[in-house]
Amino acid sequence: MIIIRKVAELLDFVELQKEQGNAVGLVPTMGALHAGHLSLVERAVKENLCVIASVFVNPTQFNNPTDLATYPRKEEDDFKMLAEAGVSAVFAPSVEEMYPGGPDAQPRHEFELGTAAEVMEGRFRPGHFQGVAQVVSLLFRLCSPTRAYFGEKDFQQIAVIRNMIETEGIDVEIVACPIKRADDGLALSSRNALLSEEQRAVAPEIHKALEYSVVYSREHSVGATHDTVVERIDAVPFMRVEYFEIVDARTLLPVEEWDESPWIVGCITVYCGDVRLIDNVTYKKEI
Ligand code: PAJ
Repeated sequence: MIIIRKVAELLDFVELQKEQGNAVGLVPTMGALHAGHLSLVERAVKENLCVIASVFVNPTQFNNPTDLATYPRKEEDDFKMLAEAGVSAVFAPSVEEMYPGGPDAQPRHEFELGTAAEVMEGRFRPGHFQGVAQVVSLLFRLCSPTRAYFGEKDFQQIAVIRNMIETEGIDVEIVACPIKRADDGLALSSRNALLSEEQRAVAPEIHKALEYSVVYSREHSVGATHDTVVERIDAVPFMRVEYFEIVDARTLLPVEEWDESPWIVGCITVYCGDVRLIDNVTYKKEI
C-alpha cells in the first residue's frame, strides 16, 4: 500500500490505474477506523482491482469547533489496518493540500442537494452536508472512481451524495453497505471512543429501543412508535434524543401512516453525555 499526501501524486496514481484498465474503488473516511469502515474496504477490495481509501478529517463539514477539535485521530493504526485489508493506496492529505485557499475560502460552490439535505442532520448541523458534498465531490474528481462505498449508518449522507452526483453530473456507482455493530448492538462509530465507561454501558439502548420499536410498529401508529422510542431513550441515564424521525427512505420526508411508502426508516440522533451518536432502523422495505 502506498501513502499519498499530495494531490498531484494522487492524480498520477489514478492515471496509471486508468491506463491499465483497472476499476477503482474509493472508500472515503475521516479515519479512527473500526470494523464498520473495514467492512466497506473489504467489499471494495472484492469488487475493484485498485482500492483507494481516504483518511481526512474534513473541517468544512463540522459546524461545531469542539467536535472538530476532539474528533479522534489515529493515523498510524489506520494505515496498518488499511494495508492489512488490501488497500492499494491511502490518500491522507493535509487541510492545505485539499483546500489551498483555506477551508473557509469564499466564494464556495453551493451544491444543490435537494430537500434530503434540509431535514434531520441538515436541520441540526447547518452547512454539514454542503461540507460533505464539497469534500466528496473533490475526492470523486481526483480519484475518478468506478465505485464509491458508503455506510448505511449515515443513511441520510448516502441520499445526499446520490443527489449531489446527479446535480453535478458525476459518473460513479454508489455502493451502500450495511451497518456494522458491536456484539451488544451499538453501531460502530469513531465517536464511541469518546464515551466514558458508564456511557458506553448504556449506549446499546439506542439500538435496543429501535429494534423493539419495529415489533411495536406492527400494532401501533407511526406517531405512537415515534413516541415510544423517544420516551424509552430519554429515560436512560446520560441520554437525550436530539431527533427521531420516521421517514420515506428515498425522500427522507416524514411519513404519517405506515402505508404511505414502500420503504420506511427511522433515523435517530442521541446525545450520550456530550457524544453525538447516530443510528437508524428499517420498518419496511417492500421494493
Ligand atoms: P466517517 O464517519 O469516517 O465514515 C466513513 C464511512 O464509513 C461512511 O460511509 C460511514 O457511513 C461508514 N461507516 C461508519 N460507521 C459505520 C458502521 N458502523 N457500519 C457501516 N459503515 C460505517 O462519513 C464520513 O466519515 C464523512 O462524512 C466522509 C464521507 C468521509 C466525508 O468526509
